Amino acid sequence: MRLTRKVTAMALASCMVLSLAACGGSKPAETTAAPAETTAAPAETTEAAKEEAETTAADAAAAVEGKDPAEVKVGISIYQFADNFMTLYREELKKYLVEEIGVKEENISIMDGKNDQGEQMNQIRNFITQGYDVMIINLVQASSEPTVTEECNAAGIPVVYINREPEAEREQAWVDEGIKATYVGADARQSGTFQGEEIAELENKGDADGDGVVRYIMVQGDPENVDAQYRTEKSIEALTAAGVEVEELVKMRGDWDQTKGQEITANALSQHGAKIDVVFCNNDAMALGALQAIEAAGRKVNEDIYLVGVDALVEVVEHVMNGKMTGTVFNDYFGQAHTAADKAMDFVNGKDVDNVYMVDYVKVTPENAGEVLELIK
Ligand code: GAL
Repeated sequence: MRLTRKVTAMALASCMVLSLAACGGSKPAETTAAPAETTAAPAETTEAAKEEAETTAADAAAAVEGKDPAEVKVGISIYQFADNFMTLYREELKKYLVEEIGVKEENISIMDGKNDQGEQMNQIRNFITQGYDVMIINLVQASSEPTVTEECNAAGIPVVYINREPEAEREQAWVDEGIKATYVGADARQSGTFQGEEIAELENKGDADGDGVVRYIMVQGDPENVDAQYRTEKSIEALTAAGVEVEELVKMRGDWDQTKGQEITANALSQHGAKIDVVFCNNDAMALGALQAIEAAGRKVNEDIYLVGVDALVEVVEHVMNGKMTGTVFNDYFGQAHTAADKAMDFVNGKDVDNVYMVDYVKVTPENAGEVLELIK
């Protein structure tokens, strides 16, 4: 069985009501697992033996308290810095490690994988050579996980994978083989479903021209990424589950990139024009590009066309509030970054860590966009 822990949106909901600062400070204060056994020195032992017993007791006390966070060296590699969402994630990760966990800033190294698996592999090998305590890795290619895990574990370094989920069989293998690796992410199926529901919940269920069929274009992220695969599949599944007849006009990869989102949408609009009812984008950066193309073509979101993304970038949430975009889905990088950092520390302190932790997504519509904006701004 996969040991998936759900980090529910409850945390987020209470964050929304309270304040982000309150959530940031919610790190549990527990320490490490069972204290190491100590042998009490019998009265007749020699001075040397007594000394040894004292040392053992001191070691045990240190083990209970865990490693001093200030001394922990954390190696981080992000698949590419030029990604809007992962930039927010990376900044939050560093902030939380320093401000909430107490890791020294100079003991955190954050590398740009530059969307190049070879480059990222070199960074990971450098972390190994330099004796880092733990790594937090946003793989360029999820398929490289076995090599990364093997090399890190051979060096005794645990790995927390983030954002790009390795194969389910591999996550199971970590459990079966006692490998120190875990994945912290969000279930992309949920984000896709939420996108589809946002369209299905509109009064006309997304049928902007009222001809009985919702015709859409799908702007995909990097299709090797499960986030892109599931968002593409589940958004449409949710729409058809609501009884909507659909037709796909265009499906193209935009690699999470705003410029590509703009080009794909512009081309689709010039080819299919008024037939397009909905533009689905696998993320917000591409949706911002799509919005530029939609406006350039003289179309109006929420009047003659609908547009949804995922991530809840500030600009997009503002657009949802003022009606320039139909909706988005909050990809909770606070929850993900905090969990990733907490699990990294758990590994360092010898605590039990499950193999998968999932943070909930949250639908963002005009009804709650203001609240979400408060949280992320
Ligand atoms: C997704 C996110 C995208 C992009 C991608 C990178 O979860 O929605 O915007 O950052 O991760 O892997």
